[in-house]
Amino acid sequence: MNVIWRKIRPLIRGGYRIFNGFNGFMYDFKRFLFYGGWVENLSDKETRNYNSVMAYHGLEKSLSYKKRNPTSGWKNAERVFARLKIANSIGEYGYHDKAAKQVLQKFLDLPPNKDLAKSKEMRLAMNKMDFESKEEHGALVYPETSFRKGILNKPEDFFFSRYSLREFNGKVVSDEYVNRAIRLAMKTPSVCNRQAWHIFHTSDKDTIQKALHYQNGNKPFGVNAPNLLIISTDLKAFFAGAEHYQHWIEGGLISMSIMYALHSLGIASCPLNWSQTPKMDKALRKVVNIKPNQTVIMMMMVGYPDDVNKVCSSTRRPLDEVLSKLELK
Ligand SMILES: Cc1cc2nc3c(=O)[nH]c(=O)nc-3n(C[C@H](O)[C@H](O)[C@H](O)COP(=O)(O)O)c2cc1C
Repeated sequence: MNVIWRKIRPLIRGGYRIFNGFNGFMYDFKRFLFYGGWVENLSDKETRNYNSVMAYHGLEKSLSYKKRNPTSGWKNAERVFARLKIANSIGEYGYHDKAAKQVLQKFLDLPPNKDLAKSKEMRLAMNKMDFESKEEHGALVYPETSFRKGILNKPEDFFFSRYSLREFNGKVVSDEYVNRAIRLAMKTPSVCNRQAWHIFHTSDKDTIQKALHYQNGNKPFGVNAPNLLIISTDLKAFFAGAEHYQHWIEGGLISMSIMYALHSLGIASCPLNWSQTPKMDKALRKVVNIKPNQTVIMMMMVGYPDDVNKVCSSTRRPLDEVLSKLELK
C-alpha cells in the first residue's frame, strides 16, 4: 500500500500543480485579452501615451545616431503625428503626448527634413496644438566623463551590503524618502521607454495589514511592517501578442531598482512574492485601489534597520554555475 501511495502521490501533487499553472495561464490570458493594449484604442489617454512613446522613441533613436540615414524616420514621424492629432482633437494630454510633440518638431527641423513639404504641413498643424513639454526630449550629447559618474569606489560595499530585512526598527519612512527612491528607481530602462509602472505606497497600519493578509510569505514578521509598497505594471502598455510577458519583466526590473534605490538612501526592504492564485489576486483587488489593467508584480516591506539585525545569509552560488561562454552549436 505504502509503495503504491509513494508512486501515486507525486502524480497527484504534480497534477494539482499543473492544474494550478494552467488556471494561472488562463487568468493571465484573460487579463491580457481584456486589459492589454492590443486593440490600440488611441482615444484612451493612457493607451495612446504608451503607444505614442513607442513611435517617438524611434525618432529619438534616429536623432541620436552619429551617422544617421537622412531619409529614415518618416514612418515613425507619421505615427507620432497621427497620435498628436488624436490628443489634440480630444483635448486631453499625457506626459508622452507632450514629449512626442517636441521630438517630432526636432525631427522635422533636421536639415534633410526642414524644407520638405510634409514637414511644413506637419509643423503648421502642430503650431495650432496648444500643449508643450517643459523638459528636453530628443537626443543628448553625453560625454564619457558623465558615464563615469556612475563608477563606485567599492561597488562590493554597495551590492553586498543589501540584505532583505524582515524586522525593522519601527520608524516609518517618510513620503519624502520613498518618493526620492521611486524617482531614482524610475531611471530603470523599459521597452521603448514606456515606463508602464505604477507603485502604490502606504504607511497606514490598517491598509498594510489588510493587503499583507493576502500575501503568503510575510509571517510572522509582516505585522510590524512600517511601510508597504505594491509594485504593478500596466497591461495597457503592451500591444504586440509577443509582449504578453513583458509586463512581468518590466515589473521585475523596477522592483530591483527600488530596492537598490532604497538601499542607497539607507533604507531596508524585503520583497514579498506575488506568485498568487487568480483567487487571491482577485481578493486583493477587492480591498485596495489597484486597477484591473494593473498587474501586481510584488509587495515590498520597507523600513529602517535596527542597530543590530539578524538576516538570512542567503549565500550566492559560485560564478561557474551561473556564467558560461556563449558559443555557437
Ligand atoms: C520576487 C521575490 C519574492 C520574495 N518573496 C519573499 C517572501 O514572500 N517572503 C520573504 O520572507 N522573502 C521573500 N523574498 C526575499 C528572498 O528570500 C531573498 O531575496 C533571498 O533569500 C536573497 O536574500 P537577500 O535579498 O537578503 O540577498 C523574495 C524575493 C524576491 C526577489
